Amino acid sequence: MNYVQAVAAPERNIGRIKLHDRQDAFAGMRAAGRIAAGCLDMLAGEVREGVATGRLDDLARQYLFDHGAVPACVFYRGYRHTVCTSLNHVVCHGIPGERVLRSGDILNIDVTCVFDGWHGDTSRMYGVGDVPRKAQRLMDVTYEALMRGIAAVKPGATLGDLGHAIQSYAESERTSVVREFCGHGLGRVFHDAPNILHFGKPGQGEELKPGMLFTIEPMLNLGSPAVKVLNDGWTAVTKDKSLSAQYEHSVGVTEDGVEIFTQSPAGLDRPHALAD
Ligand code: MF3
Ligand code: CO
Ligand code: CO
Repeated sequence: MNYVQAVAAPERNIGRIKLHDRQDAFAGMRAAGRIAAGCLDMLAGEVREGVATGRLDDLARQYLFDHGAVPACVFYRGYRHTVCTSLNHVVCHGIPGERVLRSGDILNIDVTCVFDGWHGDTSRMYGVGDVPRKAQRLMDVTYEALMRGIAAVKPGATLGDLGHAIQSYAESERTSVVREFCGHGLGRVFHDAPNILHFGKPGQGEELKPGMLFTIEPMLNLGSPAVKVLNDGWTAVTKDKSLSAQYEHSVGVTEDGVEIFTQSPAGLDRPHALAD
């Protein structure tokens, strides 16, 4: 997701929101989204106790290559990996490495691929072994928050409507919405205008129009919404060390609603619910 302060810099995110051609762009986004979602489907069979997050990264990279796609994150602002692996109190941008999964962990895997010039960007939560109830609930609420945000997307609605749908539900379930990171326009560009805030007021913000392409990727915490970035320059964690969860889809605004490009071909949209 975009780092709000970073993308607020004028040279990165100013200007009009692109309205993409319905045929071409949507076909491209469908193909890219399907590969990204297929990659997360494959990983659902690999997340278990004893597996290192770096191993999941290797498998994801190989999957993308095998499907004619490339990872968008490698060399993106100096990032070196295919996926982000964000465990427990890590909010986002966790770096894959030697950390081995343990029973009770909750893990977000976020993958972005480029296929035929188009970006597919999606993430899901995975549970490892016996996941505590409160962690399971957080993942359930986060998935539902994403889907409520998506349900608010249609021509004539505003970005504030979308943010409000997520925030009002999340807060009614006693979770908090991270403010520092947001969704983003995407297409041939990885992080484009507009910023998609996961909080907001009905009727405010930019009006949605057919042909807009963007991600929705709410991060919800069990405790306070405050986050900080570790010294590695990437890993964002909750300041109070409370658990955090995230789900992400890439979507497009259609004439009468929304199309999700990153739905799971295998029906594994909620891998966290597969946990024991
Ligand atoms: N996939 C993330 C997003 O949702 C971006 C990860 S940052 C990177 O926008 F450096 F890892 F690419
Ligand atoms: Co994203
Ligand atoms: Co992502």
